Amino acid sequence: NNYAVIMAGGVGSRFWPLSTPERPKQFIDVLGIGKTLIQMTYERLLNIVPAQNIYILTNEKYVELVRTQLPDIDRGSILTEPQRKNTAPCIAYAAAKITAIDKDACMIVCPSDHLILKEELFKNIVETAVKNASENDKIVTLGIKPTRPDTGYGYIEFSKEQHAQAGDVTKVLQFREKPNLETAEVFIKSGNFYWNSGIFVWKSAVVIDALEKYQKDLFDLFCADTSNYNTDREQEFVNKAFEACQDISIDYAVMEKADNVDVVLATFDWSDLGTWKSLNEHLEKDTFNNSIIGGKVYTFNVKNCLVNVPEDKVVLIDGLSDHIIVESDNVLMILKTSHEQELKNYLKAIEEKS
Ligand code: GDD
Ligand code: MG
Repeated sequence: NNYAVIMAGGVGSRFWPLSTPERPKQFIDVLGIGKTLIQMTYERLLNIVPAQNIYILTNEKYVELVRTQLPDIDRGSILTEPQRKNTAPCIAYAAAKITAIDKDACMIVCPSDHLILKEELFKNIVETAVKNASENDKIVTLGIKPTRPDTGYGYIEFSKEQHAQAGDVTKVLQFREKPNLETAEVFIKSGNFYWNSGIFVWKSAVVIDALEKYQKDLFDLFCADTSNYNTDREQEFVNKAFEACQDISIDYAVMEKADNVDVVLATFDWSDLGTWKSLNEHLEKDTFNNSIIGGKVYTFNVKNCLVNVPEDKVVLIDGLSDHIIVESDNVLMILKTSHEQELKNYLKAIEEKS
């Protein structure tokens, strides 16, 4: 049986002021289409696995947000983490719980805050990955053809001899999480590296084996004894495990170490929407290359701007180009597009002043 696990406990506050620690990126309708990223992720997975086999893992702080945004999901399918310990403990928990239900289960693990277009292709690629993971006991990751030496991603090296084509399953020679710029540049030049999309497919038993081999402490805390899962002792049991476990991502914990990893080169359009600029590439433009979401926005002599304001706002803008203008409930941001990478520093400065 196939299961899906949506990881929705990250803070992702890069879309400030829309995203905040109280309301991270996955809970925001960044495209202005009436659906948040987690809602789109859930719908995409409903095409692939039955609704009752979809689990959402999130911090207890976001449980109410998940319930409001995904009202069809059972409360019991929202797995609650009392502490933020990154993706490896989250996956150890999900794998152990699912194995206790079905020891032959195959899991599709997805981030909750990415944009994926061409859903039919997504379905095909995931099905290829599921077949390989189930039949050959592999850890499978979905790779993306890289376009720049971005240091925010994991890099996957595959053999040059294999002449991998889109949709092919290829053996992974090396997995390197978030290399420095110099290394990323070498990887890009060498031509046989993909980006890690952060979407993984494996049998729950296979990832548990890998945890036992490479992260014995996580294995001992979450997977060694599965008798508490799916009982009323589950929350208490995992609360203790989260209290005791280390903070580590699955990329460092397992992907960099495992030797039974395969990659499928994705054919769908993928973006992790890391910046306002990367989001802007997916928005509809007016004749002056402005993307406008929400409000009644009247522009005069305005070009190359991204405007995102609440529905009930009337906004007048004159004589402005290359800016990002975003208003949330209580914040207004007017940022020069080319200064976007400074946003982190500006926020730090605001925090110090307030
Ligand atoms: N449940 C839960 N608990 N989810 C979490 C937690 C946690 O403690 N921490 C992060 N997540 C969720 C995030 O909400 C996101 O959907 C997903 O797990 C990935 O976490 P990120 O924090 O966004 O990871 P990243 O972007 O730095 O790196 C990962 O994704 C890249 C692709 O976007 C890695 O897998 C990289 O290798 C990969 O290239
Ligand atoms: Mg991310």
